[in-house]
Amino acid sequence: MTLHDKTHAPVGMLDSGLGGLTVLKSTARLLPQENFIYYADFKHSPFGGRTKAELIGILEEVVSELLRRGVKALVFASNTATSAAIEFFRDKLDMPVIGLEPALKPAVQGTPRGKILVLATELTLREEKFRKLYESYQTQDGIILKSCPGLVEIIDAGLDDPQVMDTYLTRLFEEVDRAAIQTVVLGCTHYVIIKKAILKHFDPGVQGIDGNEGAARRLAAVLAQCQLLNTSGYNGQVELFSSNPEKTGLLQKQYRLLE
Ligand code: DGL
Repeated sequence: MTLHDKTHAPVGMLDSGLGGLTVLKSTARLLPQENFIYYADFKHSPFGGRTKAELIGILEEVVSELLRRGVKALVFASNTATSAAIEFFRDKLDMPVIGLEPALKPAVQGTPRGKILVLATELTLREEKFRKLYESYQTQDGIILKSCPGLVEIIDAGLDDPQVMDTYLTRLFEEVDRAAIQTVVLGCTHYVIIKKAILKHFDPGVQGIDGNEGAARRLAAVLAQCQLLNTSGYNGQVELFSSNPEKTGLLQKQYRLLE
């Protein structure tokens, strides 16, 4: 492959479902000339309730599929996949592999007083990668960790019934001292889709923070460093596909809906 072919190759992005589309949106906005292939592995969703070993096995299939399609770089548009498996794939692959992590650093920097609530999947919160991050950013007022089992399934079902979501969130936040929270970290890309619905449960000044822009900027920097940036001068293509073809329509609809 010549350097020219390589720069025109797509960036592969993966997640268990709709969540990673929020990363795709931010990234495609920053890098409009890039081509993207997004793979939603609905068949193995949710990732967050699995063991690390199980998820690595699942991601081997997903990554192989993206490699077959000739991607030049990979983005794990999933905090869960990043926590559990990114080091494994970085060791194995000879290409840039960018991940998503719960955005603790900007949350701590932007929260001089008050507690920070981190919402993420069970697997993300259990993993050593996150534990290390958490230990390095402890604040005086504290960081509360909360997993949200069942939430990814509600989001991937298409969010047709706002009542279901609201009942779920009301129950989830029942034992949280909501008045003490200043910042909510959306530590799962799915939760970025429902940011407004989540923040409705907190005081008006509370901010919701995610790592999407940071990941997009990191991808841009790494592509530039590896001389892989697409500089064709034309707008790139975005291709969405899934391990459950019945959900392709939902993927397209959700991508259009994202701001
Ligand atoms: N959206 C992914 C994340 O950021 C995966 C969620 C899941 O499938 O449990 O963690």
